[in-house]
Amino acid sequence: MTDDSPLKHSGIILWLTGLSGAGKTTIAQYLEHKLREGDRPVERLDGDAIRQHLSQELGFSRSDRDTNVRRVGYVANLLNRNGVIVIVSLISPYRTVRDELRSTLHNFVEVYVNAPLEVCEARDVKGLYAKARSGQIKSFTGIDDPYEAPLNPDITCNTAAETVEESVAKIMTWLEAAGYLQGSERFASANSDRAFQHISP
Ligand code: ADX
Repeated sequence: MTDDSPLKHSGIILWLTGLSGAGKTTIAQYLEHKLREGDRPVERLDGDAIRQHLSQELGFSRSDRDTNVRRVGYVANLLNRNGVIVIVSLISPYRTVRDELRSTLHNFVEVYVNAPLEVCEARDVKGLYAKARSGQIKSFTGIDDPYEAPLNPDITCNTAAETVEESVAKIMTWLEAAGYLQGSERFASANSDRAFQHISP
């Protein structure tokens, strides 16, 4: 018997991986909004917030990134086993640790938020690619640090070619087809789409 066996693991862990600037947070925010239209609890674990509150002491070495990813996996599992739909948005650049979580966590859905490096760099939402190119930031993912793309993700969102609405619709359709949203109610609402416009960045 495992330490968590009495609980049902009725949630979902939606694990969004991809380069900085690929669109993980934007998709996660809109996905959260769509999932909240159902009757199940939703929580979002975002890389920037996690590093501010939970992983303050960690840097960007491989070891620190893996620790960060495992930490978030641990928290996601606690939420998941209490029925929460968890949306994780972390670069999580290393395949080995992602696969470790995928094989150990229940209802783990890997979503590859894919955009070419040139596109992410051109967006440079936080100005970090410019700093990485000029050497002000070292070990920046995609510039002088690796990103290992998933080989067999459950879902791929190509954000250079899709709108955020299309990417989220793809995820919702996949979840529905896989039976993850059974028992949840009302996942389409024009009114709440309008409300989202006010909170989106
Ligand atoms: S992970 O590699 O450990 O999964 P995480 O998603 O938590 O990364 O944090 C990435 C965020 O940290 C980026 O969106 C960016 O804002 C910031 N950051 C600062 N330095 C780096 C760096 N060297 N590489 C990648 N992201 C960095």
